[in-house]
Amino acid sequence: MDSKLDFLSSIAWWGWLLIVLLIVAIRDIFFQKSHTISHNFPIVGHLRYWLESIGPEMRQYFVANNREELPFNRIERGWIYASAKKENNYEGFGTDRDIYAHQHIFINNAMMPYKLPENHPHTVDHCFLPCAKVMGEFNKRKRPYRPASVINVSAMSFGSLSAKAVESLNKGVKIAGAYHNTGEGGLSPHHSHGGDVVFHFGTGYFGVRAKDGGFSMEKMVKLVNENPFIRAIEVKLSQGAKPGKGGVLPGAKITEEIAAIRGVEVGKDVLSPPNHKAFSNVPEMVDFIEKIAEATGLPVGIKAAIGKLDQWKELADIMKATGKGPDFITVDGGEGGTGAAPPSFADHVSLPWVYGFSDLYKLFKDKGLSERIVFIGSGKLGFPAKAAMAFAMGADCLNVAREAMMSIGCIQAQICHTNRCPAGIATQKKWTQNGINVPLKSERLAQYFKTFRKEFIEITHAAGYEHPCQFKMSDIEINVDDHNLSKQLSRTYKYEKSPVPFKGMQHLKDCMYLGGN
Ligand SMILES: Cc1cc2nc3c(=O)[nH]c(=O)nc-3n(C[C@H](O)[C@H](O)[C@H](O)COP(=O)(O)O)c2cc1C
Repeated sequence: MDSKLDFLSSIAWWGWLLIVLLIVAIRDIFFQKSHTISHNFPIVGHLRYWLESIGPEMRQYFVANNREELPFNRIERGWIYASAKKENNYEGFGTDRDIYAHQHIFINNAMMPYKLPENHPHTVDHCFLPCAKVMGEFNKRKRPYRPASVINVSAMSFGSLSAKAVESLNKGVKIAGAYHNTGEGGLSPHHSHGGDVVFHFGTGYFGVRAKDGGFSMEKMVKLVNENPFIRAIEVKLSQGAKPGKGGVLPGAKITEEIAAIRGVEVGKDVLSPPNHKAFSNVPEMVDFIEKIAEATGLPVGIKAAIGKLDQWKELADIMKATGKGPDFITVDGGEGGTGAAPPSFADHVSLPWVYGFSDLYKLFKDKGLSERIVFIGSGKLGFPAKAAMAFAMGADCLNVAREAMMSIGCIQAQICHTNRCPAGIATQKKWTQNGINVPLKSERLAQYFKTFRKEFIEITHAAGYEHPCQFKMSDIEINVDDHNLSKQLSRTYKYEKSPVPFKGMQHLKDCMYLGGN
């Protein structure tokens, strides 16, 4: 025994290295059958896989320039991080953007900015920016709702996000006076920390699911009655990253708690179907919306990504003829994010936000319906200049998903579908979640929302207005070539926005339906 140990200890370190390499080479050539490169180039072939695996980080940290990455480049991420931490989010020396580039957005500033009158709400709170429209007012719902913030947390379920992330978002919206959309996974205890909630469900009906897998009105009414902080209900028809695909929650993310909330099995992929069981055509969908609104008293809206318009035309015709229909419509852009989706869908199915929204808004406006609907936009709109463009086009409110994630620490690792999120946000692993300091992260979300609103108000004032609802299509231009060819939004998208009735910020502040009341 001693002589064997003596022999082993006499082998030099490089001898051990050679032995290990020899074992790897034998395995590569004779035993593993799945990698051709490793078989043909034993040992060195591994370098390729390793370099490929660290490639994204290398490019992100060392190679990509400030404006290069997608979905969000370093400047955009940096602005959110700095705003969330209340750090200096200015840039020095001037823009580093090519402002002559195609598709660049210009906001036409007034000769003299809007001047705050004495005792204006902004002299007390420079972040006060509620929605100029009230959800459910036209349809005379029992509990109309005016969102107290134009920026809110978009649908992201407990399941796709961790418990600590959901809790941080909920506590954050409470501080910021915004609302929190539950996403498809039902209402969880983590959504119930005092923030306003928009309850969202899709074809899986999680949280309001009947025994046959369809929709249960009984459960819906019970849920709303037991949770008065639910302010509105959103029926998901589709989302930009995967329209017509239904939801996907990978089995790796289904813990016992999530399985219990959703009524599904632990560890098994949850695939919700593309179609709703509760309705199969547009008139049935309108009836469904009306029944939920009647039973709960809440405003009810729909969320969708836009492609073909024929069924939307049918919806507009029904709304015009009957005076019924959704109180709000959330338009998600094809550039929208997801917890998990096939790239063929995420990259190609449904229109980008500007094209989809302009098509849809024009359609409702032509029928004289735009005033009675609250239009919500989502799809990388969580930046004040983009928000100005969205409002000029007719959006009344914004939902942000990934921007909200970044404000609480997401580093855009883009592995939400694997349960390996390093920031503890899009994972159910306890260890990585434990890194989330909920009080700190909720403050950061709130601070991002407040900074966003402050900067959005400043841009609005620069354009000569009091509230962004006053932005018109002619206030924004998009570069198509030199200035003589740059086109106002109205000429590009061929409609004028309907003016939003606005009686001043004080009127919004005094509104009895203002969020949280
Ligand atoms: C992790 C994650 C989960 C999501 N879950 C849902 C969902 O349950 N239902 C839904 O309609 N949209 C869902 N979305 C889409 C977002 O709500 C939003 O519409 C989209 O990401 C565009 O907003 P953004 O560009 O601000 O991220 C999810 C997005 C992400 C990133």
